Amino acid sequence: MDQPETFAFDEANRKTAEAIIARYPDGRQQSAVLPLLDLAQRQAGGWLPRAAVAAVADMLDMAVIRVWEVATFYTMFDLAPVGRTCVNVCTTTPCWLRGSNDIVAALEQELGVALGETSDDGAVTLREVECLGACVNAPLVQIGDDYYEDLTPASAVALVKAIRAGEAPKPGPQARRRSSEPASGAKTLKGEG
Ligand code: FES
Repeated sequence: MDQPETFAFDEANRKTAEAIIARYPDGRQQSAVLPLLDLAQRQAGGWLPRAAVAAVADMLDMAVIRVWEVATFYTMFDLAPVGRTCVNVCTTTPCWLRGSNDIVAALEQELGVALGETSDDGAVTLREVECLGACVNAPLVQIGDDYYEDLTPASAVALVKAIRAGEAPKPGPQARRRSSEPASGAKTLKGEG
């Protein structure tokens, strides 16, 4: 894998990084490591080159190994190039009980890849992640900053097809319910009486 030799925040991101660092009290600037890594990953095209990790370490006056420890711990950081879109399927117990295995199987078939792989056209990387903290709308996938919830194998495939076609599907529940109300409709707080 080709690693760029250098990385520097562009002007806009450098200002954003400085604003993030300034949120923290004196002596606690290293607390900005997570948002700065996220900013670097977004600028670098969805993954974190070694040079970007080193640049963040330099900006926060941290040892590079300390920043690596963070970058390698969290699944939201990719240390190698990924597809243009990452589809993160939650397979933890509540999502599993609601059919996440069937969603994984349907997406693997649709994309012609296994978990952790990228489709031939470079459009989609399919990944498995732990609980995304939205179990009430299980099963779900995370794509970028959005959640697509209440999925079935068919709606998950439709979602991925739309993304590959360059569309921007609406995030949130993909079944007919608002937010997290009961699937059979609201039962309480229905009126003013
Ligand atoms: S188990 Fe999937 S969101 Fe919690």
